[in-house]
Amino acid sequence: MIRFLFAFPLSLAAAAAPHLVPQPASLQMRTGTFQLRDGASIVAAPDRPEARRVASYLADALQPATGFHLKIVGASTPQARAPSIVLSLSAAPPVPAQPEGYRLQAGPRGVSIEASSAAGLFYGAQTLLQLLPPEIDGATVRNVPWIVPAVDIVDYPRFAWRGLLLDVSRHFFSKGFVKQYIDRMARYKFNVFHWHLTDDQGWRIQIRSEPRLTEVGAWRVPRLGRWWQIEPPREAEPDTYGGFYTQDDIREVVAYAQQRFVTVVPEIEMPGHAMAALAAYPELSCTGGPFRVNPGSKFYRQIDNAYCPGNEKTFEFLDRVLGEVAALFPSPYVHIGGDEAFKGFWQDCDKCRRRMADEHLKSADELQSYLVRRAEKILAAKGKKLIGWDEILDGGLADTATVMSWRGMTGGIAAAKMNHQVIMTPTQFSYLDLYQGDPALEPDTYSELRVSTCYRFEPVPDGVDPRLILGGQGNLWTESVPTPRHAEYMTWPRGFALAETLWSQPRSRTWDEFVPRMEAQFTRLEQAGVNYSRAVYDPAMAPVRTAAGKLAVRLSAELGGSSIYYTFDGTNPDRFSPKFAADPVLVPDGAYVVKAVIYREGAPSGRMLSLAVTELQDRLAKQKK
Ligand code: ACM
Ligand code: ZN
Repeated sequence: MIRFLFAFPLSLAAAAAPHLVPQPASLQMRTGTFQLRDGASIVAAPDRPEARRVASYLADALQPATGFHLKIVGASTPQARAPSIVLSLSAAPPVPAQPEGYRLQAGPRGVSIEASSAAGLFYGAQTLLQLLPPEIDGATVRNVPWIVPAVDIVDYPRFAWRGLLLDVSRHFFSKGFVKQYIDRMARYKFNVFHWHLTDDQGWRIQIRSEPRLTEVGAWRVPRLGRWWQIEPPREAEPDTYGGFYTQDDIREVVAYAQQRFVTVVPEIEMPGHAMAALAAYPELSCTGGPFRVNPGSKFYRQIDNAYCPGNEKTFEFLDRVLGEVAALFPSPYVHIGGDEAFKGFWQDCDKCRRRMADEHLKSADELQSYLVRRAEKILAAKGKKLIGWDEILDGGLADTATVMSWRGMTGGIAAAKMNHQVIMTPTQFSYLDLYQGDPALEPDTYSELRVSTCYRFEPVPDGVDPRLILGGQGNLWTESVPTPRHAEYMTWPRGFALAETLWSQPRSRTWDEFVPRMEAQFTRLEQAGVNYSRAVYDPAMAPVRTAAGKLAVRLSAELGGSSIYYTFDGTNPDRFSPKFAADPVLVPDGAYVVKAVIYREGAPSGRMLSLAVTELQDRLAKQKK
């Protein structure tokens, strides 16, 4: 048997499976390779403009690194006979009942991608890009043999809603960056960009009928500092930090996303999270203001940030705003927020009290529900469906609302039980603003979400009709994300984990075999100049109090095959230091610092973690709270 193996010709030996994210539904290795060369063509039928659009996207994506200007030709042309990439739209889907499905076959004579929709062709094209060497993601010409392994892939998504949210209110992100973000999402087969356009810290979308929203609402005082501890605006201090998207900018982003089969879902927050709008139009609040756009200083419950639902002017305003929004975004959905509204100012407002009496509303929650139902009607009249955060369940759910569940899955489960559509985006699995490694090594935020936890995200809870779960989404809130580089850092690699949980079939994925596929994407992001976190390679520390009342420490590594070494004497550990086993180790008397490093496959991995014993004690005290 051994002799037979050695005698096996190398070219016939099964090649290692390519490192794809998300993992396809089925992947078979075949014999040989295809080499993409200058002069190859992309074949797409001239009478199928959707296929031609994908062909032209693919030619553009292949051009920077290869330097090839691949021609797009019809099947009957002589060029089509040379080895080429063939995109075909077939009436019969390669995967029955899967409109986004595709089949990709690669072999020495070329690559064929077959789908029943342009979206399917696009996802096949994304897979092809990942089958090429990582240098394909580079922005300049590389001298690399552009080899694709021979494969037969049949693939389709698990969920129809595969989203990422970017909050552009807390910090403004340029149109150029938003396009880059969408481009990178699309490479991992995400198909919804949830654009959080308005909040207390900035109104980012031009509304022609309400010009002050961007003249005033898009600007705040510039500040550094820890969120919610930031100094409030001073009296005459100019509001110089911010920005907004013109309606032309929005149309440009929407068209760019459409080319990538990404639906842009705008979020216009109401009734709360509206301080930037109220700074522009204080008469829409219960208290009348004046208000300043919030720079991250504490205000909740002290300063009003909600529209007055007792005032008809609020609804006239929302009608005009949502009218312009509906006209700009082809998405069938508009997200109206609905989360975390402080309703305390409604109670002392004559107009709100009158509204409650007239409409027989028994609580502030019912008053919010009244506002949401009116928003639902406004949107319906403009041909749009309403989505809101799970607080829209409080006080009664609007009849046609889709619920985005963020405070865990409970709201989503309740909504599904009422036969409403749900998008799952629970904090504990999908909040990309949380730190992703030991907080001593990571930029400060309020809680932890590791990539391995994202990977365990299961959007369909037991006992819920899976047809009502549209899918899920990662949310990048940007209170502590001031720059594009950091937005990328917070998104990747957790975005890979979410992409896979939302696209791939559970049976075709495990964390251990995801890891090398994730690492392969690191190389691609490096080529593309996109930032990402390497926190998976770092150690983490958790303090433990022993039964005898002594301080001990538990060290952990996120990746299999990791060995953790530590010291208590202040020196930097290496693989000759004590090795951590499973049980917590006692912190010896007199130690003032604990240091740890990881080795994988005999080589140092990640950063050294150094924690003062006093910091460990602080962590222990926080755990108790
Ligand atoms: C949210 O995180 N407030 C939706
Ligand atoms: Zn009011």
